[in-house]
Amino acid sequence: MMKTYTRREFLKVTGIVVAGASVTCGGLGALAARSPKVNTPELIFGKEDNMTNRILVTYATKAGSTAEIAAKIGEHLSERGFSVDVINVKSKPDPKEYQAVILGSCIRMGTWLPEMIDYITANQVALNATRTALFTVHMQNAGDDETSKAARSAYMDKVRALMPGSEEVYFLGTMDFTKLSILDRLISKMVKAEESDQRDWDRIKLWSESLVI
Ligand SMILES: Cc1cc2nc3c(=O)[nH]c(=O)nc-3n(C[C@H](O)[C@H](O)[C@H](O)COP(=O)(O)O)c2cc1C
Repeated sequence: MMKTYTRREFLKVTGIVVAGASVTCGGLGALAARSPKVNTPELIFGKEDNMTNRILVTYATKAGSTAEIAAKIGEHLSERGFSVDVINVKSKPDPKEYQAVILGSCIRMGTWLPEMIDYITANQVALNATRTALFTVHMQNAGDDETSKAARSAYMDKVRALMPGSEEVYFLGTMDFTKLSILDRLISKMVKAEESDQRDWDRIKLWSESLVI
């Protein structure tokens, strides 16, 4: 399991590693920050022209585990009879084409990935006029105690301000060093993160089946 760090401690470690990489390595810093290629699937379940039956599941990932969760959510929703597009947020899907939009991101340094925040900012009006749900993929602050709940809720502060009132859910993800950049691996090792896959596919299924859309 991963040791729980406060955001301040985590950012301190990260700051030291990033500063070290850029000062001592110069151009090597960029190389160290380059992530290995990960699979970012774009899937279409069903072909529905009528937007009243179409759902978008869009995701932001670094190491791929959020993409796999998004794909699974898409599959479960399609089993409920919806036409579902699962699209990497970097492809900038148009939310106006859907009756509902599900957005998900992994957590890095205590927040959703910047490409998802940018997407929400650019599409804020359309998203707030649509039914939405948000899923967060993380590894720390997983407990049911009030401190953990408050800490993981804080991951959503930026997003919540842009999309108040959206349903939120938190899923545990994975830690796979082979899918991380050298820099991220270094940060992960400094905070004593261990490799593991904590995804609870039954819980993801239950959530997808009970989601009111
Ligand atoms: C560099 C780095 C920073 C992370 N920061 C956090 C964090 O602040 N809080 C947290 O709960 N998980 C954190 N995680 C764990 C990731 O959210 C988790 O590994 C997630 O499954 C990654 O999703 P992805 O595979 O879609 O990139 C971090 C992971 C890495 C590698």
